[in-house]
Amino acid sequence: MSALTVLGIETSCDETAAAVVRRRADGRAEVLSSIVSSQVAAHAPYGGVVPEIAARAHVEVIDLIIRQALEAAGLWFEGLDGVAATAGPGLVGGVMVGLSAAKAISLARSLPLVAVNHLEGHAISARLDAEIAYPFLLLLVSGGHCQLLSVEGVGRCRRLGSTIDDAAGEAFDKIAKTMGLPYPGGPALERLAEGGDAERFVLPRALLGRDGCDFSFSGLKTAAARMAQGVDDPIDRRDLAAAVQAAIARQLAERSERAMVAYAREQGGLNRRFVVAGGVAANATVRRTLQASAAAHGFTFAAPPLAYCTDNAAMIALAGAKRLAEGYSDGLDAVARPRWPLDEATAASSPIHKPGRKGAKA
Ligand code: KG4
Ligand code: ZN
Repeated sequence: MSALTVLGIETSCDETAAAVVRRRADGRAEVLSSIVSSQVAAHAPYGGVVPEIAARAHVEVIDLIIRQALEAAGLWFEGLDGVAATAGPGLVGGVMVGLSAAKAISLARSLPLVAVNHLEGHAISARLDAEIAYPFLLLLVSGGHCQLLSVEGVGRCRRLGSTIDDAAGEAFDKIAKTMGLPYPGGPALERLAEGGDAERFVLPRALLGRDGCDFSFSGLKTAAARMAQGVDDPIDRRDLAAAVQAAIARQLAERSERAMVAYAREQGGLNRRFVVAGGVAANATVRRTLQASAAAHGFTFAAPPLAYCTDNAAMIALAGAKRLAEGYSDGLDAVARPRWPLDEATAASSPIHKPGRKGAKA
């Protein structure tokens, strides 16, 4: 199999992104360009993503962002072997914009189309920067998802655990909002927590010691919101933010360590690789805490560079290239899916019903 150069398009939430990635014959990835246009300013006044505003904003800039990605990569459509776009899960109005753009390019330029699962993109994102062999244990922590998965390859995942209420990023965002921080709350809360004393405020430790690898953040959210009410002093606010961040990191670590034990047993002690991906993986405390968990259980640790933790199109391009290399492509009838669990079998047999802000949590 020779190298494949793929244009990736991502429009499932509030970033319009396009990227060109070359997947070499040996499987290594080379990011030729990655352009991300954030809509944060458009949504900030509302304290969260407004789907209609997001869809319109994607339409306005998608052509320009694709052009910029091709120009930055130093090539044009002739230089591509395929086009990949996020087809879900996500805000369906936005997903349709990116997927339609990809279909138009596919049709006009006779390029194979790949409809990529956004979560599959996150799952492969650490491989944009480093060689990571399959299988591996993945903690996927974003604004809409919080899952532990055993990843065998692209399109081959088994869910070990998932959130029963909020996603980790959602918990960061909602708690940040109750503390009066701007959207998106995760990075704002991390900045506020800098230098804070995480031990001064005591927050509940959800699910601690409970069997399984599921997550829950609602108790923490309620407790933090109650505490935030009486806290105005800047030092107190800093320390509360540090406590919240540490509590989220601690739960992610505790549940991940359970998953490491289960995964290692399943794999007969082999393939001890732990990968964390998604927007929350950009958080330094979360990264550090999870790295320590991995070390304690004899797992190697990998996380994407910060730019590839949050939504981007390079991860979509790489997932698409891997699919193409394996001989898969999609027809022009590929549909935009607001919900699209990575492990469809487990999601169907033990569904997690509560709808997520950005699609299926399971
Ligand atoms: O992966 P992502 O960009 O979008 C989704 O697919 O959801 O993740 C966005 C989420 C948001 O909830 C955001 O607050 C959170 O990731 N996030 C962070 C940080 N950077 C992004 N949370 C904590 N600390 C950060 N530095
Ligand atoms: Zn995402």
